[in-house]
Amino acid sequence: MVRCLGPALLLLLLLLGSVSSVGGNRCVDAAEACTADARCQRLRSEYVAQCLGRAAQGGCPRARCRRALRRFFARGPPALTHALLFCPCAGPACAERRRQTFVPSCAFSGPGPAPPSCLEPLNFCERSRVCRPRLLAFQVSCTPAPSAPDGCLLDQRARCLRAYAGLVGTAVTPNYVDNVSARVAPWCDCGASGNRREDCEAFRGLFTRNRCLDGAIQAFASGWPPVLLDQLNPQGDPEHSLLQVSSTCRALERRSLLSILPVLALPALL
Ligand SMILES: *[C@@H]1O[C@H](CO)[C@@H](O)[C@H](O)[C@H]1NC(C)=O
Repeated sequence: MVRCLGPALLLLLLLLGSVSSVGGNRCVDAAEACTADARCQRLRSEYVAQCLGRAAQGGCPRARCRRALRRFFARGPPALTHALLFCPCAGPACAERRRQTFVPSCAFSGPGPAPPSCLEPLNFCERSRVCRPRLLAFQVSCTPAPSAPDGCLLDQRARCLRAYAGLVGTAVTPNYVDNVSARVAPWCDCGASGNRREDCEAFRGLFTRNRCLDGAIQAFASGWPPVLLDQLNPQGDPEHSLLQVSSTCRALERRSLLSILPVLALPALL
């Protein structure tokens, strides 16, 4: 649906939320909560503008788009940025919107029509001072704990989601693969990986066969930030509830910023 809209309309959709939240689309709720928060809104407008921009040779300015996305997840209020990335969905309209959250046509897939072997982004990432520490953090934080029945130890979930968000805007940017599941993967496959197929599958499996990551994304539904619950109340006076959201968010943000991964806070890497 989104593909046939012009960039300006897409921009409006991303910034304002396309449908009213009365239908219970939590990705729209998350977008509205971000719009109501000055910092979240500013950082999101920046990446949307970059990612929808035109590069000199056609295509999009991918490096600038990805840099703006890294800034959004490093500096935006985590309660709001994570709600945008992990909003729980029960239907395809919500899941499609979740998949489109960070302008994947520029930040995630391309430039060619077919995905490369995962060894390509992996090799690139290992040589990149931006990507490498984030991939390591993701491996450490999201590796399933054998002793945990649902994949992650309890306190591991939040760390895993933070580390996952830290990869958005790197060479191994992951995204939802469709609009009917919550499965995620970077834009690559292991078809043409020759004698390194096992390495390739192992890397891709960090995303596609990871019980801890899957469980953490599922569990985000029950940990849906309380500040966003107000938005689900269609009776509420919208102006009033937006004000409430933004002041509660500022309080939340001060607390959760303290716990953000050090690697995400290093301004030199952004
Ligand atoms: C879900 O994805 C399919 C395949 O990409 C697409 O044809 C369909 O329009 C999408 N659904 C929604 C609600 O956007």
